[in-house]
Amino acid sequence: MQNLIPDLDILDRNKELTEEVKTTPDYNSGNKRKLYIESYGCAMNFSDSEIVASILHSEGFDTTSDIAQADIVFLNTCSIREKAEQTVRNRLNHINGHKKRKPEMIVGVLGCMAERLKTKLLEEEKIVDLVAGPDAYRDLPQLISQVDDGAKAVNTFLSREETYADISPVRLNSNGVTAFVSIMRGCDNMCSFCVVPFTRGRERSRDPHSIVAEAKDLFEKGYREVTLLGQNVDSYKWSEEENNKARLEKKEVTQIVNFARLLEMVALVHPDLRVRFSTSHPKDITDEVLHTMAKHENICKNIHLPVQSGSSRVLELMNRGYSREWYLSRVKSIRNILGEDCGITSDMIAGFCTETEEDHKETVSMMHEVQYDYSFMFFYSERPGTLAAKKYTDDISLEVKKRRLDEIIKKQSEISLIRYGKDVNKIHKVLIEGTSRRSDEFLQGRNSANKVVIFPKENKIKGEYVHVMVESRSQGTLFGKIVD
Ligand code: SAH
Ligand code: SF4
Ligand code: F3S
Repeated sequence: MQNLIPDLDILDRNKELTEEVKTTPDYNSGNKRKLYIESYGCAMNFSDSEIVASILHSEGFDTTSDIAQADIVFLNTCSIREKAEQTVRNRLNHINGHKKRKPEMIVGVLGCMAERLKTKLLEEEKIVDLVAGPDAYRDLPQLISQVDDGAKAVNTFLSREETYADISPVRLNSNGVTAFVSIMRGCDNMCSFCVVPFTRGRERSRDPHSIVAEAKDLFEKGYREVTLLGQNVDSYKWSEEENNKARLEKKEVTQIVNFARLLEMVALVHPDLRVRFSTSHPKDITDEVLHTMAKHENICKNIHLPVQSGSSRVLELMNRGYSREWYLSRVKSIRNILGEDCGITSDMIAGFCTETEEDHKETVSMMHEVQYDYSFMFFYSERPGTLAAKKYTDDISLEVKKRRLDEIIKKQSEISLIRYGKDVNKIHKVLIEGTSRRSDEFLQGRNSANKVVIFPKENKIKGEYVHVMVESRSQGTLFGKIVD
């Protein structure tokens, strides 16, 4: 079967998942004006685009997948690496061609690059009419009318409260089975390499009742999996007191909801609703979370636990708040509480400031010790305004960064092959997400550990759970057949 369905190798997978772009599908409810959004970067941005589509839908906009038909073109952008921003600038050049043919078309930049560059973006990219940061989306209707009146419009105000809790997202690019649910915004961590605290602002948690209500609604609409999103889900914390001071007088008892409690509340929505989450932070993930995962079958056994580097010295410079030993002790707890089959995945940065060959070897040996199922791997890209840009010199040459990146990618390929090999000859419970991208005769879904499983479709359809006997594997996919 592997010959019939060419597989993604780890390089393709790293590229595909880290350079993914999503565009709006066609949605026509008779509205006249059309919105086209391209989303770059992380799941948080994809989820935000669904909030933007919802806000503009109430203002009389439908979505279109055809940029030429659009009255408004939004790019929801990412600043995490220099390349991410360059991609957006190239896209703006391309969109310029459309705008020349249709001068009334409004071009807006949303998201992290909008927040980072603010009005500078209007000066640098003449084609841009509107700039809105991640906390300014409720203001979009007003900003659009400003542009309609012939002005340029900017709102990059960062909020301490905004969570868009009451906005029901319009699901874009949805397979109707899996959905993202944002549980918090911002980040208070200040990892020295990272631009996110500057582009997304202070950390704040969303009301758990609105999260559970959204999960219930999704389940009723036929969805069978939710992924709870936050930059550091383990620091989720909500209480009436902290989050809603105005209502305090009316409520006597205040209960603090932490991430473990929230996870349980969502897991209890329905046993057939799978729950995933991302991203866990090695310094904050608690045994309570791991025990909650063990207690509920429908909480998927996969933890994305980005290590960034295997060297304690580099981790210190990165301001990650943990050492190599601490990280390994967390992995030990995961293995003790959730067993060998629990997926553990990671992000890694090659060539951070001052990284020596020894430090790099420690990253490789860390990968070996943990046995990650897969990882997203990058070479360090200095971001203006970050602690590292201010305090350290970006002193590793591009050539060395790339060579080290190649080495960790190669190491991950070997480990993935071993980890996926352990799944062969075992039965996996798979939630079907749709037909395989490679062939209509096959379906694809994921097992609890988030690994893609491909199998002949028989009479099954998406949204159903099946048990699949896995017969073979590559480094990124499992292949098998249904046994029930
Ligand atoms: N909140 C998540 C990470 C979000 S950013 C966490 O703490 O793990 C996703 C990944 O991009 C990071 O884990 C890191 O590996 C990578 N990254 C962030 N800034 C980077 C930079 N300046 N250069 C290269 N990679 C970077
Ligand atoms: Fe960036 Fe660190 Fe926050 Fe992740 S935890 S978003 S890497 S500052
Ligand atoms: Fe990129 Fe912003 Fe996400 S910088 S990774 S889109 S939070």
